[in-house]
Amino acid sequence: MNRVKVDLDGSSYPIIIEANSLSSTGKVIRERVGQKKGVIITDENVDRLYGPALEDTLENEGLRFTKLVVQPGEASKSLSTAERLYKELAELQLHRDSVVLAFGGGVIGDLAGFVGSTFLRGLPVVQIPTTLLAQVDSSVGGKTAVNLSRGKNLVGTFHQPEMVVMDPVVLETLSSEDVRSGLGEVLKYGLVWDENFFWKAVDNIELFENVENGAGLESLISRCCEIKAEVVGRDELDRGIRQILNFGHTIGHGIEAGSGYGELRHGEAVIWGMIGDIWISQDRGYLAEETFSRILGGLTRLSLPSLPDDLTGTELLEYITRDKKVRGGVINSVLLREPGEKVDVEQVSEAELKDAWEFLTGLEVN
Ligand SMILES: NC(=O)c1ccc[n+]([C@@H]2O[C@H](COP(=O)([O-])OP(=O)(O)OC[C@H]3O[C@@H](n4cnc5c(N)ncnc54)[C@H](O)[C@@H]3O)[C@@H](O)[C@H]2O)c1
Ligand SMILES: [Zn+2]
Repeated sequence: MNRVKVDLDGSSYPIIIEANSLSSTGKVIRERVGQKKGVIITDENVDRLYGPALEDTLENEGLRFTKLVVQPGEASKSLSTAERLYKELAELQLHRDSVVLAFGGGVIGDLAGFVGSTFLRGLPVVQIPTTLLAQVDSSVGGKTAVNLSRGKNLVGTFHQPEMVVMDPVVLETLSSEDVRSGLGEVLKYGLVWDENFFWKAVDNIELFENVENGAGLESLISRCCEIKAEVVGRDELDRGIRQILNFGHTIGHGIEAGSGYGELRHGEAVIWGMIGDIWISQDRGYLAEETFSRILGGLTRLSLPSLPDDLTGTELLEYITRDKKVRGGVINSVLLREPGEKVDVEQVSEAELKDAWEFLTGLEVN
């Protein structure tokens, strides 16, 4: 079992990472939130695979939770799904102490977190992430959101969970694309915070790509949670250092939007985005060519997803400039000067982004 603490001004919460713990999660939840009622918000896939195990353990602890199931996929991160959930919460007559359990991947974490943070001006939320991306990233740090047709994550809140509790063994049923997507975020932590961790992850990448033994991921996930907890603890509201976690996300978000959300997973697009960011870093002379090639070699140990082949550099730029993080026409990206050590958020030009895109589209991949 690994335990990581997220320390914030005025509050703190635990992240508990333990293989084969799903069937005893009820106990951990009861100990933290007491004898309460509430809801489990999950999606159909997670419910089919793991819903009964969670319901059983809650029941065994005498906790009364009603399960609300939404369709899997990004489309559920919407105001209309949120509205449906609000109505169900109102019908259940939940009160301020009722607890929302967000049981699923990042879509469920963001949606249930959003609903939980706004219903009755905020209920306690427990995150129980079930994808690699959610376990290493989205369940920690309190960002919640839904999408509008104009763009992703345009409506949201900061609402820290009461706790995050996860079982890496559930990752054994994930698709290979979803595993790769999570690994994209894993490698990101290494490059912005801990270069040794990056190389350790790269050296074992084949093992991680075939999650036959989820328990073997426990320490990898814990290290990511430690890094995220550290960064969020220093900058909860994303006004400073937390922005380095957007490494790879400027171009990544452009690719996700340009491929119509779906062709590539979030973390898969981020892998390409990181290659774009290190390319710009070496083009500016921040990274020596040798360092650039070494990191590129590391990142391409992952079997990369194909890029959307009809997306042009000009189109990519349009999607990038629509992103909510672009303010006043200024596009920022996260650039590396020393991997894991010196990382800065800097303005990048349209020409640099287009050149980076040309590099990405010309890259021979495995
Ligand atoms: N809040 C944050 O800080 C933050 C950070 C990164 C990403 N995100 C958001 O996270 C979302 C992506 O999350 P995701 O990649 O987890 O996608 P997801 O939630 O859509 O899950 C991917 C797929 O895996 C299925 N699934 C979940 N757990 C499973 C399991 N154990 N076994 C088999 N299948 C399982 C889901 O039903 C879904 O079909 C995006 O909306 C992104 O914006 C949020
Ligand atoms: Zn991300």
